[in-house]
Amino acid sequence: MGDKNGWDQSQLRKYDIPLDEIPRLDVNDPLVDKYISENKPVVITGTNLVGSAEKWDLEYLEKHMGVADHTVFLSRNHKFKYFDDKKVPHGANEGKIDFTPPTRRLDMKFPEFCRRLKDWKRGEERMYLQQALNSSVGQAIVHDFLNFNWDWINSKQKKNGWGPLTSNLLLISMEGNVTPCHYDEQQNFFAQIKGYKRCILFPPEQFECFYPYPVYHPHDRQSQVDFERPDYSRFPKLREAHGQEAILGPGDVLYIPIYWWHHVESLMRGGYTVSVNFWFKAGPTGQITYPLKGHQKVAVMRNVEKMLIEALQNTQEVGPLLRALVLGRYTD
Ligand code: OGA
Ligand code: FE
Repeated sequence: MGDKNGWDQSQLRKYDIPLDEIPRLDVNDPLVDKYISENKPVVITGTNLVGSAEKWDLEYLEKHMGVADHTVFLSRNHKFKYFDDKKVPHGANEGKIDFTPPTRRLDMKFPEFCRRLKDWKRGEERMYLQQALNSSVGQAIVHDFLNFNWDWINSKQKKNGWGPLTSNLLLISMEGNVTPCHYDEQQNFFAQIKGYKRCILFPPEQFECFYPYPVYHPHDRQSQVDFERPDYSRFPKLREAHGQEAILGPGDVLYIPIYWWHHVESLMRGGYTVSVNFWFKAGPTGQITYPLKGHQKVAVMRNVEKMLIEALQNTQEVGPLLRALVLGRYTD
């Protein structure tokens, strides 16, 4: 992997998982469409997708982000593991599942975020701003947003029969922050604006290697596996994981296919990073062919889990029922 591009190997965290490189192709390379249509990751250069945001450093954003509050996550370590507020147990369920929020959410105005970043000292909580771009931003940002390369991205959406764009998340990360391994239920063009991010991806066929939390758990869609302290006795199939990685720099766009596992880290000692993603709904299913693809099986498993939760009305009964269904009958 090239070291002449503003980063070096020492800025990457070390994991015990084999990784290949994600192909890196020019926007005009006809193979780009082949990768996207096959739901395979690819780094696309020269798109100019967020060229109008080249100038989005903290000074510019502080001046133009507007006066609204922004969502900032705070973590006592470098990991920012997402959790779904709506699935946090309360009332009668409290205590029945072990859950302590790993991060806390603080809403703050942009200047306060900048001030806290400047004053930040080692040992203090780390910060990660994750704010959907909406109409509360100032007019300069709106102008830059309107000048994204919508022609290019709309043509990809159309060509691949995706549903509508649902949101653009603005991500401003401190160096060394990690978004642990998870999958999303949307197609994603992930655009890097400032600094360098390393993205590690695994196909949905490796579902068994990553042991996702149950669907009813606040960490639904997150892997239970900690890449930094892999517990092979609890998660033996992790040994079979084999991923692909890319280092994204300013101007690079990574296609993260729907249901693909991804882990994202801002390089250590690289300063803050700025990214914007483009999330699209999946397209209509169309004619189903067999055998089912990995992502289709994941969707089926999610539906089975949801049906059981609904039918049993008690998340504690889901595991025992599934065991009774499978053990000695579908296991060998
Ligand atoms: C995403 C994502 C994490 C990050 O865009 O889906 O998981 O830290 N991003 O950029
Ligand atoms: Fe994600």
